[in-house]
Amino acid sequence: MRIEIMHGVNLDQLGRRDPAHYGSLTLAELERSIADAAADLGVEPRFFQTNHEGEFVEHLHGLRGDVDGVVLNPGAWTHYSYAIRDALELTGLPAVEVHLSDVDAREPFRRVSVISDLCLARIAGRGPLGYRDGLLALAQRLEQGAERTGEMAAR
Ligand code: DQA
Repeated sequence: MRIEIMHGVNLDQLGRRDPAHYGSLTLAELERSIADAAADLGVEPRFFQTNHEGEFVEHLHGLRGDVDGVVLNPGAWTHYSYAIRDALELTGLPAVEVHLSDVDAREPFRRVSVISDLCLARIAGRGPLGYRDGLLALAQRLEQGAERTGEMAAR
């Protein structure tokens, strides 16, 4: 099971951003902790980060066929990028939206997500653990899907 973990704008600055919201891990440290969680779950992670919206969109375009699902934290793009929403929809892949901070308890604009209805789950305010939750949700969904396909093939 291959899962793409995508970080958007300003997430390369983790470690310098407000620790009250984002904790103190750098992006490299966060990705190491996600890789450890993935190993525990038997999932193969792949990582991507960019500060350029078009690159994020084009990366989504290329995912289909390469991975089985996607965990994404688009950062501020979450709240307004219909381009990312359309590209995520195009992937046809199961997705989970993750935020380190508790976006629902912050400024009103952060409560808006233009991607959440395309995602299996929206996980916020759990810090790095949110990514583990996201991987688990995807792994469970993909296993259910595989079982169903297996049942159909056996019929
Ligand atoms: C974020 C929340 C967003 O509102 C913010 O713009 C980010 C990070 C989070 O992980 O909590 O850059 O997605």
